[in-house]
Amino acid sequence: MPRTILQIDASAQGERSESRRLTDEFIQRWKSVSAEDQIIQRDIVDNPLPHINSAILGSMMTPAEQRSPEQSITAEQYEELLQEFLDADVLVLGVPMYNFTIPSTLKAWIDHITVPGKTFEYTAEGPVGLVSDKQVYILSTRGGFYNESPMDQMDHQVSYLQTLFGFLGIEDIQIIHAEGLNISPEVRDQSIAAAQIQIRDTLAQAAA
Ligand SMILES: Cc1cc2nc3c(=O)[nH]c(=O)nc-3n(C[C@H](O)[C@H](O)[C@H](O)COP(=O)(O)O)c2cc1C
Repeated sequence: MPRTILQIDASAQGERSESRRLTDEFIQRWKSVSAEDQIIQRDIVDNPLPHINSAILGSMMTPAEQRSPEQSITAEQYEELLQEFLDADVLVLGVPMYNFTIPSTLKAWIDHITVPGKTFEYTAEGPVGLVSDKQVYILSTRGGFYNESPMDQMDHQVSYLQTLFGFLGIEDIQIIHAEGLNISPEVRDQSIAAAQIQIRDTLAQAAA
C-alpha cells in the first residue's frame, strides 16, 4: 500500500543548507524504490508557523460552534497541520543544530503536533503516546562534533527529538548525523559523504 512521507526542512540556510541537501537525497532515493508513495514537503522556514500564543490556545479550547470567525481560521490552520502529521506514515526531518538544540521553527511545529487527546494522553499510569505507527528519520547537521564524544552531553538536538517522538509513542527513530561541518571544507566533505553512504545503506535495509 502506498505510504505518505512527510518531509520537514528547518535549515535557515536555503540552498547552502547541508541538511536540505541530505533530505533531498533521502527523498530522491526513497522515490526511486517506492515511486507510488506520496511525498509531502513542509518548509517551516519559508512558511513559518506562529509560536503558540493565547489566541491559538483560546481558539482550540473554544467549541467549534462558539468560535469567532478569526478563531475558526486559527483553529482550522492548527488542525490542518496536526492532521498532516497524523496522516504521515514516515517523517523525514532535516534538522540543523542551533545553539545545542533544534531550530525554533521546528519547535513551533512540535508545539502544534504535540496535542493531548490526539498524539498523547495522560492516564492513571502516566502519559501514553498515541502515534506509535510511524517511522522517523532524522538527518542531523552540526558545525562541531558531539556524537560518541564528551560533547555528547551538550546535545539537546537529537536527544530532545528522541525524547519527544518517544513520548508520542514512536519507537522506530533512525538518526543520520553529518557532523563537523564548520571545521574545514575537507572535514565537511568527508562528513557529508559518510552521511550519504548511511542514507543509501539505511534505505537499502528498509527496502530489503
Ligand atoms: C544560529 C546557528 C546556531 C548554531 N549553533 C550550533 C551549535 O550549537 N553547535 C554546532 O555544532 N553547530 C552550530 N551551528 C552550525 C550548524 O549546525 C551547521 O552550520 C549546520 O551545517 C547547519 O545545517 P544546515 O547546513 O542545514 O543549515 C549553528 C548555526 C547557526 C546558523
